[in-house]
Amino acid sequence: MGFPKQRMRRLRQNENIRRLVRETHVSVDDLIMPLFVRPGKGIKQPISSMPGNYQMSIDKLTEEAKELEGLGIPGIILFGIPEKKDEMGSGAYADDGIVQKAIIAIKKTTKNILVITDVCMCEYTNHGHCGFISKDEKTDHFDVDNDMTLELLVKEAVSHARAGADIVAPSDMMDGRVGAIRDALDEEGFNHIPIIAYSAKYASGFYGPFREAAESTPGFGDRSSYQMDSHNAREALREVSLDIEEGADIVMVKPALAYLDIIRMIKDNFNYPVAAYNVSGEFSVVKAAAEKGWIDEKRVALEILTGIKRAGADMILTYWAKDAAQWLKK
Ligand code: PBG
Repeated sequence: MGFPKQRMRRLRQNENIRRLVRETHVSVDDLIMPLFVRPGKGIKQPISSMPGNYQMSIDKLTEEAKELEGLGIPGIILFGIPEKKDEMGSGAYADDGIVQKAIIAIKKTTKNILVITDVCMCEYTNHGHCGFISKDEKTDHFDVDNDMTLELLVKEAVSHARAGADIVAPSDMMDGRVGAIRDALDEEGFNHIPIIAYSAKYASGFYGPFREAAESTPGFGDRSSYQMDSHNAREALREVSLDIEEGADIVMVKPALAYLDIIRMIKDNFNYPVAAYNVSGEFSVVKAAAEKGWIDEKRVALEILTGIKRAGADMILTYWAKDAAQWLKK
């Protein structure tokens, strides 16, 4: 008996067979679209490093949210660019802050899309760091003060919930923030609001274009005293277990592409939904290569989303959400 011929190729011979044996499916149900909101009226300002993405004033943002709802996208995540930045990042937790006003407006105009908010200080502080900066008197070293920052993050998360946010997503990487936010939400009567924790958020070069989009590049130093070191994997499991203990409902890995192994490890080690953030740099490199005619954007983008899904992500935050929702339409 010879070795069976065509052993593997039998199931690849036409699209209908391939559809039947497909192990991974990407659908619009998996997608969350990040949006940037800024003050003003009638503004839809292109972000040059992220073609197809904009800083939008609230009126334009509500139109966009409606369109995304129409495409069947389950959720958006909001990032705010405030009028003024200050040392305490006060725009982050002001009841009339840009994100708070945006949530209220979207909730008036759009009924069937989740409004998720990024809970962080970096877009609101004048130094661009993700928290309150204090000086260590012994070393004269300036760094983000973990526990002071927790107080600000808690105020921010509660103010988002008060404005009508459906889910809050802390991305600051301070220790103890999930527990602090959970307690405060519960106390304020928001015990139904889930937390998506950016649990394994790495210090990454892939955030470059986002920092232009959100105007949040740190004025000094970098984020390596609070974001994870890209060389570490088991540390991500510790981050995830702490966040779950503290009350995270969904855990996130960010970025996605250089960290597919982390997504898989978390999926295999915890029975919690896993989100992956397909970040700005991962999007922009493809856009740039596609503009040069070197690759086919649609094909590569769908291959990337499939890879992230196959690695174990249950949902993907991606700047391709709107395009992919159209591409995936049957
Ligand atoms: C922090 C935050 C960042 C991103 C999402 N939330 C930036 C950072 O940590 O510097 C990056 C997202 C992206 O690159 O697409 N608020």
